[in-house]
Amino acid sequence: MSVLDLGSGRQILSESRIASVAGAELVVTEVGDRRKALFAGEADYAASVADGRARQYAAGRVAARAALERIGVGAVEIGAVGHQPAWPAGVVGSIAHTRSLAVAVAGMESACRGLGVDIERETAVSAAVATRLFAESEQAWLPAPEWRTMLFCAKEAVYKAVNPIVGEFLGFRDVELAIDAERQEFRAECREGLESAAAVAAGRGHWARYRAHWIVLFVV
Ligand SMILES: CC(C)(COP(=O)(O)OP(=O)(O)OC[C@H]1O[C@@H](n2cnc3c(N)ncnc32)[C@H](O)[C@@H]1OP(=O)(O)O)[C@@H](O)C(=O)NCCC(=O)NCCS
Repeated sequence: MSVLDLGSGRQILSESRIASVAGAELVVTEVGDRRKALFAGEADYAASVADGRARQYAAGRVAARAALERIGVGAVEIGAVGHQPAWPAGVVGSIAHTRSLAVAVAGMESACRGLGVDIERETAVSAAVATRLFAESEQAWLPAPEWRTMLFCAKEAVYKAVNPIVGEFLGFRDVELAIDAERQEFRAECREGLESAAAVAAGRGHWARYRAHWIVLFVV
């Protein structure tokens, strides 16, 4: 996969393991104000929410359309089913945003069952939040404070990839991560008895740092 920064038009993160994922395309863009680029139904939604939310939503849709284009799918409106983006038939994908950056990934369902992406500012997650959300083993693993945010992103990426497949809510303590820092890869495991177990266990995740943010991708 290639990772595109839409603003500069450049391929980025080519050295990261994220770029080694096959069958999907990832696009990063600045949030700015992209509301003029929205399709009618998207614009109606954006007009119904607060300004900051509307800007992030619009940047996410712009990134998502660029990702669709890169996998050969034309520009279409991306509505929502509940809170999930409604991808065109045969496509899986995911969107995330912060106040400054938005990211989206898309791939064909024939290549992967689910994609989840998350982005956060590097230092977004405090020690108190980490204690609440992470298992003892995860807390013991943390090599430096900013990796708290990587773990947080990893769990949200797992949720975004698996929830559209299984339809089950997963709390942060329901999923435990095993990080292989050398291979720049993580796996995840669900608490026993949860329906999502097989899909979670089948996935692999990778991360990258870009412009003081973590970008984490989980592929099922
Ligand atoms: C859904 C959730 C992960 C979104 O994270 P967030 O930090 O609030 O916001 P982000 O910017 O990262 O992502 C927002 C995007 O996620 C997508 N999204 C929302 N719900 C989703 C779902 N159930 N499945 C897949 N994607 C979803 C949407 O595209 C949304 O952006 P949009 O409304 O502009 O289209 C979060 O709100 C949540 O519910 N978390 C609890 C579950 C969880 O993360 N568990 C972790 C253990 S596995």
